[in-house]
Amino acid sequence: MLIEERFQRLTPHRREHIERVTAVMESLAHAHHLDRDEARLAGFGHDLAREMSRLALLDEARRLGLRLGREEEQEPVLLHGPVAAAWLEQAGRGTPSVWEAIRYHTTGAPHLNALGRALYIADGVEPGRQYPERQKLLDLALMDLDAGYCEVLRHTVVYLKDRGFAPHPDMLSALDGC
Ligand SMILES: [Fe+2]
Repeated sequence: MLIEERFQRLTPHRREHIERVTAVMESLAHAHHLDRDEARLAGFGHDLAREMSRLALLDEARRLGLRLGREEEQEPVLLHGPVAAAWLEQAGRGTPSVWEAIRYHTTGAPHLNALGRALYIADGVEPGRQYPERQKLLDLALMDLDAGYCEVLRHTVVYLKDRGFAPHPDMLSALDGC
């Protein structure tokens, strides 16, 4: 299936989120001299698998030969990034840097490429998200990509811990690198 087709099948709610993330990606690309087409494609592709059921994600991940860790077995929603990245790669759309960005957009990762740091930020600070620090985090990220990435990671880890969720190991090691 074409990725445009996958996009059209998403709910309006998700498509609007994707459009807002893509717009933030354009701003971050402009501010930090990232490739605009790669930035747009990373935004466009990141949530294409987000509305699949947990079972369908597990099946699709296995079909695509993706690595399943204990966290992914327990929470298959974590697979929506890796699955979408594999779809783009198999379709020959984008570059390794776009696929890496999409693969890690949910958790972040240590040594993540600049496009991936931008996508992690954009997903967290797009204007549809409503929390008091949002604009401040976006402004910081527009000035300093690494500082923005680290602050959004920090914010997410606190948010998760406050609600009794254990942050993914990739997220913790990403934050360790800050
Ligand atoms: Fe997203």
